[in-house]
Amino acid sequence: MRNSAKVRVAVLFGGRSAEHEISLLSARFVVEALDRDRFEPVLIGIDKAGRWLLQDEALLLGAARDPRLARLNDAMPEIALDAHPGPAGEATLTVPGGARSPIDVVFPVLHGPTGEDGCVQGLLELAGVPYVGSGVLGSAVGMDKDVMKRLLREAEIPLVPHVTLRRAAWDRDSGACLEQIAALSPAGSGFGPIFVKPANLGSSVGVRRVTARAELEAAVEHAFEFDLKIVCEQGIEGVREIECAVLGDDDPIASVPGEIVVGHADGFYSYAAKYIDAEGATIRIPADLSPAEANAVQLLALRTFRALEASGMARVDLFLAPDRSLYVNEINTIPGFTAISMYPKLWEASGIPARELIARLIALALARGARKSRLRTSA
Ligand SMILES: Nc1ncnc2c1ncn2[C@@H]1O[C@H](COP(=O)(O)OP(=O)(O)O)[C@@H](O)[C@H]1O
Ligand SMILES: [Mg+2]
Repeated sequence: MRNSAKVRVAVLFGGRSAEHEISLLSARFVVEALDRDRFEPVLIGIDKAGRWLLQDEALLLGAARDPRLARLNDAMPEIALDAHPGPAGEATLTVPGGARSPIDVVFPVLHGPTGEDGCVQGLLELAGVPYVGSGVLGSAVGMDKDVMKRLLREAEIPLVPHVTLRRAAWDRDSGACLEQIAALSPAGSGFGPIFVKPANLGSSVGVRRVTARAELEAAVEHAFEFDLKIVCEQGIEGVREIECAVLGDDDPIASVPGEIVVGHADGFYSYAAKYIDAEGATIRIPADLSPAEANAVQLLALRTFRALEASGMARVDLFLAPDRSLYVNEINTIPGFTAISMYPKLWEASGIPARELIARLIALALARGARKSRLRTSA
């Protein structure tokens, strides 16, 4: 890190993903929570064509809070992260005009593929810049619902029954695939509900809740529009959705659990319920759980974080079935940071307000970067 007074934090947001707009709202929250006595932000928006554009703070902070209205300012100049460190080992950006400008750390606030799945993390590794959150491996396994479940199963973490399906297998014999998926129906229920999901996505994009056999094929085709691999799961009726925030590296801590109370009759926390419909869902913090259940949630969240090689931050989402069984649903290695997002709210309720949370995340990134820079790179 340079010796200047403030840590220069590049906040990276937008991205080529269906969650582009949500990312803008998250970035706005992170920038607002940055302690200006300690940090100096550089805002970088990635547009849907993949261009990196310098962004104006006043514009980002003044942007709409509705994801349908939030947009990047695409009239701003392009900016590039230099692919390798400068002469003193420092990471740099090439700014408009061509000069190289050093940065100390990157805060990726990108959701979904290319941002949360290890792609950007790999670029940051090459550039030699520390960054907030999970590394390449943890990001990649956290984004892939199939590999994630395989690692969780190995760690003996309870999961809902599911099957993974690849495009090639579907093209070869869709009838056999439909049989296999339909067999996920809970015993004695006839058919479903069954959830069909693209393996690598988020925000419920491409996810369908299927309650009739006749709708299954269309749901599978729909999910395959987003990915070459899909995951189908037994749907739990009357499920409660519990979320737990994790913070740290070698000794991560878990927040109080929270609950998403879905307003829609089918209980499906869809894209619309997440971001568009104000009554789509409400948040309850802490979740209404017995102390033993809350403890079990925290332990599962920490075990999940470790099993999936996460670091820095993650939100672990769980299901609580009516029979009180707990299942891990998924990890989100770059959780939402919007004003109504669970991750910052859970920490606030656990005694870590936003300003401190963001500062701790940056400190974790810098500490990890420093430790890694001391590793031997030759035999
Ligand atoms: N097995 C399941 N049983 C009941 N509801 C489910 C199940 N799987 C998913 N859901 C519902 O669908 C939502 C989105 O699924 P999820 O796996 O979390 O995908 P995403 O990564 O897009 O958030 C969940 O929040 C929940 O409301
Ligand atoms: Mg989810």
